[in-house]
Amino acid sequence: MNAVVFYSNTCQSKAIATYFANQLGYPLADMETKCAEHYQNLVLVFPVHCQNIPDIVKVFLKNISVDNLTVIATYGKMCCGNVLCEIQKNYQKNIVAGAYIPTKHSYIDNDDVFCDFDKLEPIVEKVKEPSYIQLPKLYKNPLADVFPKLRSRLGLTIQRSADCSGCNLCAERCSFGAIQSGITNRKCIRCLKCVEACPRQALKIKLGLPLKLYLRKKKANELIIYI
Ligand SMILES: Cc1cc2nc3c(=O)[nH]c(=O)nc-3n(C[C@H](O)[C@H](O)[C@H](O)COP(=O)(O)O)c2cc1C
Repeated sequence: MNAVVFYSNTCQSKAIATYFANQLGYPLADMETKCAEHYQNLVLVFPVHCQNIPDIVKVFLKNISVDNLTVIATYGKMCCGNVLCEIQKNYQKNIVAGAYIPTKHSYIDNDDVFCDFDKLEPIVEKVKEPSYIQLPKLYKNPLADVFPKLRSRLGLTIQRSADCSGCNLCAERCSFGAIQSGITNRKCIRCLKCVEACPRQALKIKLGLPLKLYLRKKKANELIIYI
C-alpha cells in the first residue's frame, strides 16, 4: 500500500503530512494509530526531538518494510541534527527523497509556521518517479545523545492552572502514559501534546533559564531537500 504516515504533537508535522497526502492522493495515517507493516511508497513525517529521531518513530521504522521511503523531518529552527542520515544508516536504506523543514518551535509562542508549500513540489514529483538516493551526514552536537529526554524534562515545567476542569483529555492523549491523576510523571518527554489537547488552555509551559537562553539563539531557517 501507499501512505503518508506522521508523528506530530503540536500539529506542524501533521500540516506537512496533510499537504503530501493531498498532493499524492495517498491515505494519511497517524503513527500512533494502527499502521500497516509493508508499504510500497511511504512518506514519513515527524519532528526532530533534541536533534534525534523520536523513540516512537524508531519503533515504527523497526517494524515496517518499505520499498520506497521518503523521510521528512520538521525542526524548530534550532538544529535539525542528522536524523535523516541516521534513518538510512540504522533503519531503512530505500530512500527516494528527504527534507528538513523549518517550522514553529513547540516551545516558542509565535506564528512561525511553514508556509512555502510550493517548494515541496519537487519532492512530490520524486515520490511519483522514485529512484534511490544516499543522504549526506549533517552536523549533530556531540552532546545531543546525552540523556536527551532528561534534558527536555529539566528544561521546562508544565503547570496546571485553575481553569482545569479535570476532563482528563491530557492523560488520554499522552503517548507515554505520563499523566496520572493530573500529575505529570518521569515518563514525560515534554512533547506538549497535552498542552495542545487541553480544551481550556489550562496547561501552561514555563521555560527554565538555560532553555530560554538557548531558544534565543540566532535561528536556522534552512529548508533542505534531497531528491
Ligand atoms: C522534546 C522536543 C525537542 C525538540 N528538539 C528540537 C531540536 O533539537 N532542534 C530543533 O530545531 N527543534 C526542536 N524541537 C522543535 C520541533 O522539532 C518542532 O517544533 C516541530 O516542528 C514540532 O513538530 P510537531 O508539531 O509535529 O510535533 C523540539 C521539540 C520538542 C517538543
